[in-house]
Amino acid sequence: MGASRETENRNLIGELAALLEGETNRIANLANASALINQHLDRINWVGFYLKAEDGLMLGPFQGLPACVRIPEGKGVCGTAAALKRTVVVDDVHAFPGHIACDPASRSEIVVPMVKDGEVVGVLDVDSPEPARFGEKEKEMLEKAVDVIMAHWQ
Ligand code: SME
Repeated sequence: MGASRETENRNLIGELAALLEGETNRIANLANASALINQHLDRINWVGFYLKAEDGLMLGPFQGLPACVRIPEGKGVCGTAAALKRTVVVDDVHAFPGHIACDPASRSEIVVPMVKDGEVVGVLDVDSPEPARFGEKEKEMLEKAVDVIMAHWQ
């Protein structure tokens, strides 16, 4: 039944590119991107964006339970990914020092930095209630999704 995971991943990237085509409004694109990723990825409980603010990261468009609004610079999984400028995958959030718990159901997490002209402008954050939910395939897919988003970032 249904398409393979590979096909689903390709579909997400294709659908995202089509959805953002010709649109550069950041909030609209991030809102639609979070809704689309939420539709495509199963076993997740939160997906959304944190955007660079003066002293850290600020909550942006998302799907899931209400979340922490501000994340201080370098804090949590989100701040760590932003500081390192690379994707951070956490198989067990309870074992990640400094993890910021927004939804107590979250067990694993992936955060992909959004980089424009060498600067981090935000992060894509996805949480799962299942330990070790995010592997190489999900990492590759979500990094590609961020590439599509950044191609429409002005
Ligand atoms: N867990 C994140 C905070 C954001 S919520 O997961 C939505 C972190 O440690 O940065």
